[in-house]
Amino acid sequence: MAVIAIDGPAGAGKSTVAKLVAEATGLPYLDTGAMYRCVALLSTRTGIDSSNESGVAAIAESIDITFKGVQCWMNGEDVSQEIRSAEIASIVSIIAAQSPVRTAMRTQQQRWIQQQGGGVVEGRDIGTVVFPNAELKVFLTASPEERASRRVDQSGGDLKEIAFNIAERDRIDSERVDSPLRPASDAVMVDSTGLSITEVVDVIVDHFTHSLEKRHG
Ligand code: DC
Repeated sequence: MAVIAIDGPAGAGKSTVAKLVAEATGLPYLDTGAMYRCVALLSTRTGIDSSNESGVAAIAESIDITFKGVQCWMNGEDVSQEIRSAEIASIVSIIAAQSPVRTAMRTQQQRWIQQQGGGVVEGRDIGTVVFPNAELKVFLTASPEERASRRVDQSGGDLKEIAFNIAERDRIDSERVDSPLRPASDAVMVDSTGLSITEVVDVIVDHFTHSLEKRHG
């Protein structure tokens, strides 16, 4: 079961890069951030405040999340667009910091990859906690300025406000007690500042190929 774990802070380009690495390697792609976003969306829709830990936990334990290609479905509905809203982005880190939510999502992620027989998995704790034996672990970063300006190019908005929101999300993700955002000790560090997407994808695919060659002799 080959797993490529791609972790890193918000706006580092994980989704774009992970999708292309999946295409290049033929492995399925799993966006674990989308799963936390689904829990945030259902909490909002059902009027459960992000600080209501038992209410949010009940949602995380019963929610049905599936992926069809790059589309994300929640309880039988395509929510791929809706989970990207500013409202969801503003509460998802608070929800993702709650241990019962993380336990429920982790179990689903491990089950999904086991069913698929491997995959390119992107998130915050994939190399450290979810798949500590991954074939390749990548920690993808970029300068805060570049991450903010990429987000603006992608979805518009005010640069200063977006830079602030990204920094705030990284702070919550890094400071939480349960599986905080940090590189695994054996992760390959990739700083994508100033690199093209193709260059980043090539670096990761090369590392993966070398790792497989080393293992199989
Ligand atoms: O990658 P993203 O922006 O879609 O992630 C949304 C939030 O979910 C982010 O604030 C951190 C959290 N997350 C997490 O805690 N663990 C993961 N494996 C993936 C995402």
